[in-house]
Amino acid sequence: MDVSKRIDRAMTAAISRAQGAGNAGDAVPGRLAAALNYAVTPGGARIRPTICLTVALACGDDRPELADRAASALELIHCASLVHDDLPAFDDADFRRGKPTVHMAFSEPLAVLTGDSLIIAAFDTLTRVPDEDALRALRLVRLLAHHTGMPHGICAGQGWESEASVDLSAYHRSKTAALFVAATQMGALAAGHEPEPWEELGARIGEAFQVADDLRDALYDESQLGKPAGQDATHGRPSAVESYGVQGATRKLQEILSGAIASIPSCPGEAQLAQLVRVYAERMTPVAYVRT
Ligand code: IPE
Ligand code: IPE
Ligand code: MG
Ligand code: MG
Repeated sequence: MDVSKRIDRAMTAAISRAQGAGNAGDAVPGRLAAALNYAVTPGGARIRPTICLTVALACGDDRPELADRAASALELIHCASLVHDDLPAFDDADFRRGKPTVHMAFSEPLAVLTGDSLIIAAFDTLTRVPDEDALRALRLVRLLAHHTGMPHGICAGQGWESEASVDLSAYHRSKTAALFVAATQMGALAAGHEPEPWEELGARIGEAFQVADDLRDALYDESQLGKPAGQDATHGRPSAVESYGVQGATRKLQEILSGAIASIPSCPGEAQLAQLVRVYAERMTPVAYVRT
């Protein structure tokens, strides 16, 4: 089965469980159940779970079901972070992935609860493993918590936006790169490899991804992005474009990605992983800028 089918299957299973499938007779709040599905389908690029499974495959993928759980846990956390990020209390965004955001389609209370429920579903999915996988699963839970909460995860990243002065690289590292480090490390760990050597690859892909996102935010319009454009400038948020300009940020993106390929730990699937990073490098570079 290919990687995207594995991700879809694992996401569907996690959402159905959160919606109460298999608990016949128990009443479930229907609008919240619908909002969970709305927040994760149709998905975005699913880049984090794709990286996670590609690393697991490169490391031998000896426990595919555990790797699928790790991949879907990451994507559930990512989707939760977007639902909360779009709320009026944060970026106040009306569109995401080309459709109204969860609070616009359902309500603010339901968007808060959708994000909360997705975060809990992410950790829950990692606990549903056979006894022989329990130790790896526990380590996966710890990694996911580390890269999601305080002091260095997504929560910390979003928290920097409430500080008077912000260190751009600490902000990007925790807001965005943390989940990419989680993706490479959890992929390796799910397949029985030690996660530490995979940190640099995740950090580099994550840093490049955020620089690319800042460039797209500055260069593209809402119809190209499927979400509001120009957000960094509108909210006075630190961004790579603000710090380095468009040309400087584009150069930085290329440098980070060549370093990413060089940082891939030696493993059976090294060549396929390098190819994946090259494909992402091409996709990440904003076309509008390259053409001019
Ligand atoms: C957007 O992430 C938010 C950032 C961390 C910059 P993605 O661009 O991966 O969003 P989707 O999942 O593909 O919509
Ligand atoms: C959102 O970051 C990513 C999170 C970690 C929540 P941004 O606010 O920069 O991303 P977009 O532009 O809404 O996707
Ligand atoms: Mg934001
Ligand atoms: Mg936002």
